[in-house]
Amino acid sequence: MKPVSGKLYREFKEASKTLKDYSDRVVRVVTHNDADGLTAGGIVHKTFMRENRSIHTRSVKQLEEIVIKEVSKEKPEIVIFTDCGSGQLDSIKDILLDNCLVIILDHHQPKILDHENLIHINPHSHGIDGSKEISGSGMAYLFSKAYNPENVNLAALAIVGAIGDNQDGDGVFRGVNREIIKDGEDAGVLKVEKDLRLFGRQTRPLYRAIEYTTEPFIPGLSGSESASIQFLNDLGIPVKKDDEFTMLADLDKDERQRLVTALVLKMIENKVPPKLAEGIVGEVCTLLKEDRRTHLRDGREFATLLNGCGKHEKNGIGLAVCLGDRGKLYKKSLDMLYEHKGYLSKCYKWISENTDRIEDMEVLYALDAGEDIDENVIGTVASMVLNSRILEGLKPIIAFSKRDDNSLKVSSRGTRDMVENGLNLGKVMAYASEGVKGEGGGHDIAAGAVIEEGKKEEFLEYAKEEIKRQWMG
Ligand code: C5P
Ligand code: C5P
Ligand code: ZN
Repeated sequence: MKPVSGKLYREFKEASKTLKDYSDRVVRVVTHNDADGLTAGGIVHKTFMRENRSIHTRSVKQLEEIVIKEVSKEKPEIVIFTDCGSGQLDSIKDILLDNCLVIILDHHQPKILDHENLIHINPHSHGIDGSKEISGSGMAYLFSKAYNPENVNLAALAIVGAIGDNQDGDGVFRGVNREIIKDGEDAGVLKVEKDLRLFGRQTRPLYRAIEYTTEPFIPGLSGSESASIQFLNDLGIPVKKDDEFTMLADLDKDERQRLVTALVLKMIENKVPPKLAEGIVGEVCTLLKEDRRTHLRDGREFATLLNGCGKHEKNGIGLAVCLGDRGKLYKKSLDMLYEHKGYLSKCYKWISENTDRIEDMEVLYALDAGEDIDENVIGTVASMVLNSRILEGLKPIIAFSKRDDNSLKVSSRGTRDMVENGLNLGKVMAYASEGVKGEGGGHDIAAGAVIEEGKKEEFLEYAKEEIKRQWMG
């Protein structure tokens, strides 16, 4: 196993030493509001709570310039950015760095800046791929472990964040994520094993688990209750036995094998690459300290619950669950989970009925969802469109959603194959945003931007130009 590079480890040690030197100062954490961001912020918050230090944490939709200005108005002495910041160094420098110590623990593709008030730790600077080997929560975890080795029991939260960012997209955890899993297993907080990667494998009736599985996407079944029931009927697996719904755990060996084979076939028939289709069986993560009957026991359900909170603007609830609330706020988070899953099913139905809204633009697909899809889930929807194989061509998708202030949220998604052939959407978003004076960046495989509403066509022209440069050689 490749260990965390010595230099990266030293950086975490130095950051924690600096923070210990300023132990009387209040720390403000600013994090992203999705599952990875909420777990990252939760890990850092918990680290300081355990040391009885003053800490404030807020999570934001996107670290835009306007948000950094809001942070600066609070006149902070120390700000830690988690799961954001590496792509926003220009604004951080202009707005914050003169008067405050800034620590960035991020995994997005970084810009480069040297400043005496900045500690910037990013895996890409050490040859580690932040889109699949470590997430924002993993970076927060390594910092936390450097601060106090007893924090290894936060490894489970770190892996929930990695799952939220789909770093286990093909059913395998890689790189630093594997080291974090080992820490978690040694600390007795998590277990990773091979199983069918169905959503709610421990908590839901089998037909619902199939309907709710979107990572990996099962074309024809994901998002459809009736098709999932029919699929089980055709396989001779009863949806109900003795008035009780059949759960995955109720299947005997033969039924289970039939189910796996049929799911893989269904995906391959619908043009999912075999490698991805076989990923329906892969690594799943169980959080051993969580109650057996709850959604928090499974890494993917936990991550989706947090995404439900963040993407429906209940960030505080998600953060509270990461910090350990299992009472009132946890119950509310369950409502967010159901609402989120329900909304995603509606989105998928919308896509199936509105494929004419997807424009084939030579080297990319463009989807203008206008006000029909909320800006908070446009990225998830873009992933669904790409993975559902409703599109013939193998090219990236760029989707747009209108925001309340009439600007546009842009989300782009590609596949691992495209990235291996040179596509880097983070760079595409950064380049096209610069061209229209917007703000953008992200990962090679998934990236985003915010631009003025009237700039969509121009933005797409810049994006096309950059994709051609990267991808067509
Ligand atoms: O800001 P952040 O890094 O947390 O967001 C990552 C986004 O990119 C998520 O929506 C995630 O699903 C997507 N992603 C992906 N595949 C990866 C890495 C990220 O789809 N390998
Ligand atoms: O919002 P969405 O899920 O499409 O974002 C994909 C990735 O791009 C996330 O990791 C997000 O943090 C990043 N992003 C960014 N700058 C933006 C918008 C998104 O770095 N303005
Ligand atoms: Zn992330």
